[in-house]
Amino acid sequence: MAKLNILEFPDPRLRTKAAPVEAVDDGLRQLIDDMFETMYAAPGIGLAATQVDVHKRLLVTDVSHDQTEPFVLINPVIVEKDGVTMTDEGCLSVPGYYEPVERAEHIRVRFLDRDGKETEMEAEGLLAVCIQHEMDHLEGKLFVDYLSESKRMRIRKKLEKERRHAAAAAM
Ligand code: NI
Repeated sequence: MAKLNILEFPDPRLRTKAAPVEAVDDGLRQLIDDMFETMYAAPGIGLAATQVDVHKRLLVTDVSHDQTEPFVLINPVIVEKDGVTMTDEGCLSVPGYYEPVERAEHIRVRFLDRDGKETEMEAEGLLAVCIQHEMDHLEGKLFVDYLSESKRMRIRKKLEKERRHAAAAAM
């Protein structure tokens, strides 16, 4: 297994629209294992392939506190959604920022599992929010896109400044 590098806002590669996964094979399962390792190490509760610069439609999540609810969703499609919930969201690609975002409270999602088998699952609460957030990444969309332009610019400038300081400190 290997930990992967996570792209950070405003990296333009995060704006790439991911292509459908054509084959669920050992190469893809290796990527899935690496994505879980990367997500757990961060630590985070969700990671989309887009964030590790692989532009295929897959994401991993685990909203438990003890790594007991891992899910991988390949080529996910939301087939039903209802209700509205507002949650403070963060993102491994926008480190350190949390802002309220409105999402469907309950979803039904269809996807392929790690064996390539078509599956459907219902999700609500944090898991539903997380899946919707990660599916946005596959479209090149970030949670900061739901915020006002001025708030998004403020976050962008602060992150760029922090990165400059980190680079200077590393010299
Ligand atoms: Ni994210």
